[in-house]
Amino acid sequence: MTPLVLALQVAAHGTPPGLSAAARDVFHVADVITAFSYFAIATTLLVVVLRLRAQLPFRVVFVLFGAFIVLCGATHVMSTLTLGAQRDVIETATMVATAAVSLLTAVLLPRFVPRIEALVRDAQVAREREREKARADALAESNEALVAQAAALNDANAQLAESLRERQRLEGHLRQVQKMELMGRLASGVAHDFNNLLTVIQGNVDLVRDAVPASDPAAAYVEEIDQATKNATELTRRLLAFGRKAPARTERTTLDALLARERRLLQRALPSSMQLEVRSNHPDGFVQIDVNQVQQAILNLIVNARDATASAGRGASTVTIETGQVVVGPEAPPTSPPVAPGRYMTLSVQDEGTGISEEVRSHIFEPFFTTKEEGQGTGLGLAMIYEVMVQSGGGVQVESLMGRGSTFTLLLPRVA
Ligand SMILES: Nc1ncnc2c1ncn2[C@@H]1O[C@H](COP(=O)(O)OP(=O)(O)OP(=O)(O)O)[C@@H](O)[C@H]1O
Ligand SMILES: [Mg+2]
Repeated sequence: MTPLVLALQVAAHGTPPGLSAAARDVFHVADVITAFSYFAIATTLLVVVLRLRAQLPFRVVFVLFGAFIVLCGATHVMSTLTLGAQRDVIETATMVATAAVSLLTAVLLPRFVPRIEALVRDAQVAREREREKARADALAESNEALVAQAAALNDANAQLAESLRERQRLEGHLRQVQKMELMGRLASGVAHDFNNLLTVIQGNVDLVRDAVPASDPAAAYVEEIDQATKNATELTRRLLAFGRKAPARTERTTLDALLARERRLLQRALPSSMQLEVRSNHPDGFVQIDVNQVQQAILNLIVNARDATASAGRGASTVTIETGQVVVGPEAPPTSPPVAPGRYMTLSVQDEGTGISEEVRSHIFEPFFTTKEEGQGTGLGLAMIYEVMVQSGGGVQVESLMGRGSTFTLLLPRVA
């Protein structure tokens, strides 16, 4: 556009009076450049107005400002052209229009100031909000990450606690096994010789009893010696059983068959006020057991049930023996000693006695642990059962409610 206007200017001769020819040329070139810039600015504004249309705030001001700039440009074009008499008219008209538009712009512009300020403030508030939201999003994200981390930590903690419990259980079992080992060795070392001595004592007591007439006051003493010897013999027998390592003779049988055989003996262990209820569920599995040992174990459980019932002050009550079977999985209740997952035949002895406190419960399988009065219990019954279970790959489950009673369940591995 500039060369065209320059050409126009060259063709024309209207130059400001009093200027040298060179200054005139510079004056015209500057005027042409100014006019071009004004038009270019106005064109840019027009493009903005057309592009944004409704979205553009203060459109009127933009349009007026555009018109103002166009007119300013026009005044400069005017000055480059020499149009004779018309020049004054056109130039004056252009100046009047410029004045009108600039005045209108100047009047209208202050009215838009509050809106411009509000717009700037809104934009700032919006930016602030966006920043706030970004911060909140980042916070929520890191919160989520924290929650996930906490959950992972919780899981790890639970696993750790579980493995700690498992470890404690195994350590407890190991301690028990070591104690049993020691007791076993001690028992078998002493019991055998002691039993021989008792045989001699018992034989002599029998001889003395025959020699002393029943009317003799010494007969009562002999009876006491006899009873004490029998008690000592029984204790030694149990110690010997306890010290025995391998099961003597195992046989393939069912727990129902064993119960049927021993029922009368078991009933005799209870006073007449107590009833023995046997519930044979006829489970179809077999066990491979030392029948004598298991029979002794059941007898021990019955005697314990009897004592617990007596301690609870319940004269007339029932002891229930029940047979069944169970599949032990990873989540099964604990047994003493722990058993491997698999199929087991069960025999439980349930009483309505005192129940067992948590504290007592953690010791009941320890050799010589007893809560009974001196002379009433040796604390070997459950230790012996534990040993039998170790030898037969089984375990004992204990359930108990204080004041309500206890259930001891023997789990013995099922065999084909
Ligand atoms: N059915 C039960 N109810 C309540 N407590 C029981 C029961 N069975 C065992 N206990 C508790 O466990 C302890 C240990 O029992 P365990 O049979 O080993 O020894 P004991 O019965 O005391 O003596 P013994 O050697 O004569 O059997 C008992 O003293 C008693 O406190
Ligand atoms: Mg006992």
